[in-house]
Parts: sequence; structure tokens; C-alpha cells
Amino acid sequence: MPGTVNGKQNVAPHGNANGNDGVGTGSPAREVFEESVEARLEKLRDSRVVVTGGAGLVGSRLARLLRRVDAEVTVLDRLDAYPDAVHSTLFGVDRLGADVVVGDVCDREAVRRVLTGADYVVHAAAYADVAACTRRPDIAFRANVEGTQVMLEEVAASDVRRLVLVSSAAVYGNGDPAIRGPQVFQEDQRLLPVSVYANSKLWAEHQTRLMLNGPETPEFAVLRYFSVYGDPQVPKPGSHSWMVAWLSMQARLGRPMRLNGGGVQVRDLVHVEDVAAATALALVEDGMAGATVNVGTGVPTSVRAVGELIAPHFPQSHFVTTPLPEGDPLGGYASTEQCRELLRWTPRIDVRAGVERYVRWLSATPHAVPGWLTAAPAA
Ligand SMILES: NC(=O)c1ccc[n+]([C@@H]2O[C@H](COP(=O)([O-])OP(=O)(O)OC[C@H]3O[C@@H](n4cnc5c(N)ncnc54)[C@H](O)[C@@H]3O)[C@@H](O)[C@H]2O)c1
Repeated sequence: MPGTVNGKQNVAPHGNANGNDGVGTGSPAREVFEESVEARLEKLRDSRVVVTGGAGLVGSRLARLLRRVDAEVTVLDRLDAYPDAVHSTLFGVDRLGADVVVGDVCDREAVRRVLTGADYVVHAAAYADVAACTRRPDIAFRANVEGTQVMLEEVAASDVRRLVLVSSAAVYGNGDPAIRGPQVFQEDQRLLPVSVYANSKLWAEHQTRLMLNGPETPEFAVLRYFSVYGDPQVPKPGSHSWMVAWLSMQARLGRPMRLNGGGVQVRDLVHVEDVAAATALALVEDGMAGATVNVGTGVPTSVRAVGELIAPHFPQSHFVTTPLPEGDPLGGYASTEQCRELLRWTPRIDVRAGVERYVRWLSATPHAVPGWLTAAPAA
């Protein structure tokens, strides 16, 4: 029997609410919108866009896209989420063609300076790792809560037209415990964050709605990213969040790809290039004013399915199955109705193509495997 979330039909294990083929490597529902992404982003030509966290994985890809459509881009970033070589060599921060300001979103003066003359803001800076936020809730609070508060106060007092707040599907937590099997997450369902990271993101969402809802305030839009992957993503120490990067690097090092419960858990894997396009569109799409929208593919992909896409590229690769910890949720994926309707966007890169691109990039960029990972004993 399919379950329900707030009265809405949810999926059986082999089907999903977006009309795709269930757990595995199906393709996102493609929809052709009248105007291409590129044509709609023309509105950003010559506008001034601030991207906080613009030296990170998503932010750097977004900054590059904004430059391609001739926006003037200013990045505000602490530049310390990765070793310097990752920010510079892999993410190409030095080559973005953006004005890169090294600073903290908690630093009011720095924020005020970058917002001077800005038309749009994407607030993507965050202590962006679930495990790290659990280990250091103080850093999470400062970056994700206090930093967001400074951003909101300064944006509210500025001439910015719209702020896009980057949130996360983590705000859904484990969904409805009564549902067995992967769940579809809908924007209006009950939110049950189960980590420090998710709680900080949920707070940022609410605070944005509360502070930017006046007739005189800049507009806002909230995006809940699902599992972002794609080159040049590299894992952070102590984190196992990024399944494609993590499993690919294990396989490349000749280590087993570990599958809890045989790899039945699912994620909604959305390629970083698609995420950048969705985020840029959220700055200009009329329907996004005041909206909260999932950024995902609507396709649940199991951990095993990802491993099986990676394995053929690395002859020594092999799987080790470990028990699924009791009560571990099976995961979920995005309802994509809102992002099709309000953002008028669907992803272009399916998981098969995206993983293929990642492993080819990794094979051509062996130095992307972090030293700490090479030195660590096989997990
Ligand atoms: N990657 C994912 O799977 C995913 C999923 C859901 C949501 N998100 C969100 O997307 C955004 C971008 O994530 P990402 O994957 O590119 O992470 P990332 O760590 O690669 O990028 C985040 C950037 O923010 C910067 N930063 C951190 N704290 C800062 C501060 N106090 N002041 C200024 N800069 C600061 C970091 O230096 C880094 O460059 C984050 O808000 C994250 O929470 C990411």
C-alpha cells in the first residue's frame, strides 16, 4: 500500500510520485519550457549579483554561469572550506572573472560593502556539512544562523531586488516514520530537522520569510537543494555525505564500496551544473517571489545503483555489504511540481550521464583525491 504524507499519496518502493521508474537510475521528467534557461537569464545581463559562498562547489559553478550571461559578480567567501588548492585549482576561483572578496558573512562591514550597488544576492555561504555541524554546532550557529541574520539585516536595508536563500532537503528530516520505503518530499509537508545542520537551515528559511515579507523589502526565494554531486566535488574530512564523490574515490583507491543494507537507501542526486542553473533562474523568475521550492530531479537513486554506475570504470572495484542500522531511514527524493511550475525548470543531466562525467573527471584529475583520504585506512 502506498503511504501518505499530509494526505498526499506517496510512493510504493518501485514507483514515484513524479511519474518516473522508481528506485534506480531513471531520468528526470524532462519538460521543454518555451524559453531556454539561457534566454531567461538574459535579464541578468549587466546586473550586479553577490554570491556568498561563491568559492564553494555550487557557488563557483553559479558564479561562472552568471559571468557567462554577462552579470557582474561579487563573491564573498571565507575560502576555508577546503585546502587552498581545491578552491583555486579545482573550483577555479581565481579564474571566475568575479570580484572575489575574502571575508565572513558575519562581518557586517564586509557584507555592507559587497551589497553596495547590488541588484541580486544568492546566499549560499554555510558550514555546509551535516557531520561537521554536529561536531561543531558553535561554528554551524555562527555561519548558518548569525551569518544569515547579518545578511538579512543588510539586504533588508539595501536596494537589492531579490535574495535567493540556499536551503537544504535536510529540513525534511526522515519524513514520515510511518512510511516504509523511500519518500517523496513536498514543500508544504511537516518539517522535522534531525541534525544541527538541518535545524540551522530551517531557521534561516523562517527568518528570511519573516524579515523580507514587507511591501518595501527586497523579494526572496528559498531553494531546498537535494543531494548535489558532480565534478569537481571532493569529500570533506569526516564527512560521508557526498555519495558519488565518496564511492568514486574509494573505487579509485581500490578500496571496497561499502553498502549499508546492500545499498537500498536512496538519494535524489542533482548535478551541480543543473543546481547552478536553477539558482540563477530563481533570481529572475516572477513566480519565485516569496516561494520555497525543491531543487531535485524527482528520481530516487539507490546507493547500490550509484556504485554499479561507478564500478565498470575501476577494474579493482568491489562491494562490501554491511547491515543497515536498525531504524535507519531509506531516504527520499524531491517532489518536482513546484520547481516545474514556479521556477519553470527541470534538470538536464540524468544520474547516468552525471556519474559518468564525474568518474571521467576523476580519472583525468587524480590529484583531486584528498591526501587525508589516501592516507586513511580503508573505511
Ligand atoms: N552540496 C550539497 O549536497 C548541498 C545540499 C543541500 C544544500 N546545500 C547548500 O548549498 C550551499 C553550497 O554548498 P556547497 O556544497 O557548495 O558547499 P561548499 O562548502 O563547497 O561551499 C560553501 C562555501 O561557503 C563558504 N563559507 C562557509 N562559511 C562561511 C562564512 N561564515 N562566511 C563566508 N563564507 C563562508 C565556504 O568557504 C565555502 O566556499 C550551502 O548553503 C549548503 O548548505 C548543499
